[in-house]
Amino acid sequence: MAQHLFDSFDLRGLRLPNRVVMAPMTRARALEEVPDDLTVRYYAQRASAGLIVSEGAPISREATGYLFTPGLYTAAQVAGWQRVTDAVRDRGGRIFAQLWHAGRASHVSLQADGRAPVSSVARASGDVAFAYGPDGTPGRVPASTPRALGTAEVGRVAADFAAAAAAADKAGFHGTELHAATQYLFEQFLNAELNDRTDRYGGRDVADRIRFTLEVTDAVVERIGASRVGIRFSPFSTVGNMPADDRTEETYLALAEELAARDLAYVHVHDTSGFADDGGEPRKRLRALLRDMRARMPGTPFVLAGGMTRESADELIGAGIIDLAAFGQPYISNPDLVERFRTGAPLTPPDRTTYFGGDATGYVDYPAVTDPGA
Ligand SMILES: Cc1cc2nc3c(=O)[nH]c(=O)nc-3n(C[C@H](O)[C@H](O)[C@H](O)COP(=O)(O)O)c2cc1C
Repeated sequence: MAQHLFDSFDLRGLRLPNRVVMAPMTRARALEEVPDDLTVRYYAQRASAGLIVSEGAPISREATGYLFTPGLYTAAQVAGWQRVTDAVRDRGGRIFAQLWHAGRASHVSLQADGRAPVSSVARASGDVAFAYGPDGTPGRVPASTPRALGTAEVGRVAADFAAAAAAADKAGFHGTELHAATQYLFEQFLNAELNDRTDRYGGRDVADRIRFTLEVTDAVVERIGASRVGIRFSPFSTVGNMPADDRTEETYLALAEELAARDLAYVHVHDTSGFADDGGEPRKRLRALLRDMRARMPGTPFVLAGGMTRESADELIGAGIIDLAAFGQPYISNPDLVERFRTGAPLTPPDRTTYFGGDATGYVDYPAVTDPGA
C-alpha cells in the first residue's frame, strides 16, 4: 500500500507520527556555544515535526568550524541541550543531535591555542570561515590551512565522536545523526580528488577512503546502539570548494554495502543539486545513486532533503523512493510546517538575512498560524 507524508513511521522502534523531518540547520546564535532560552523556544516551537534533527553540534573544540555553534562536549552544553530535549519531549516531539566535525572548514581563531584545524590532507579549501578576524571581531575570514591527521590519530577522533554521542544520550536526545555531508571532515576523507593520503585512510582504493567513516560509525554505534545512529551524505556536492569527484558512485555504493549490515536508524541524503544551474542532470544522477544505495540497504530507512515541497515529498514517499522527507528553509519560517501542510495553509517565506547569527529576530518570532493540535 502506498505510503503518505502524514502516515506514521516506525524508525527502528521510535514511532514518528508523520514523515516530515526538520532538517539540521546551523543558526549560529549560541554566543557561549551553549543552547540557551532562545534555542529551547526555537526547537519547542517545531516539535510537531515527525523528527527534528538538531543543528550541527561540534563534537569537540577541534571540530568547531563556525562561531556561536552549540557543541556537545562540555557539561554546560549537555545541560543546555537537556533543556531543549525536555521542551521538545514535553510537546510530544522527537529529536536527534547532529554530530559535527568541520575538519578543514575552520579557522585558527576557533581552535585551542590558535592551532591549525585538522583534515584528511594539509590542503586549504580556499573558502571562507565565520570566525574572528585579526582584530578580534567576528566575520568572514579565509579558512585556515589544515594539518593532516596522523594515521594513529583517527582512533582519537572516533573516540571524540563516541563521547559526543554519549553526551547526546545523556542530554536526552532520541538519537544522533553523523554529519558526513557538505564538505566537512567525513567528506574530506570520502572525496577521491581531495583525499590523496597514502595510508589506510586514503588514496585510490575505495576501501581506504571509506574507512574513516566506517570506524567513526562503529565507535558511535558501539556507544549508543545502531538503531539510534543515522548518517547524512551529500554525494556530488561541491559545497565549500569540494572538488567534483568522478568516483562518487563507487564511493557511496561501497559505503552502502558496508553500512547495510550495520542496521543504522537511517541514511539521510542531502541533494545539493538545487545549487547547480545545469538543467537537472545533477539531480538525476543523485536520484539514480540514491536508488542504487537503497537497493543495497533494503532494511534501512532513507530520508531526502533539498528543495522538497509537500507535493514532491508525498510523491517520493508514495513511490517508495524514500521513507521520510526533510525540510530545511521552510522550517525556519513555518514552525507549524506539519499543520500547514495538513491544512493547506500558505507558507511564510524565510528571510535569508537572519539565517545565521543575531538574536530572536528571524529565529523564534515566526508565528504558527494553525492550531498545533490540528
Ligand atoms: C541556515 C541553514 C543552516 C544549515 N545548517 C546545516 C547543518 O548544520 N547541518 C547540515 O547537515 N545541513 C545544514 N543545512 C542544510 C539543510 O539541512 C538542508 O539540507 C538544506 O537547506 C536543503 O533543504 P531545503 O531546500 O528544504 O532548505 C543548513 C541549511 C540552512 C538554510
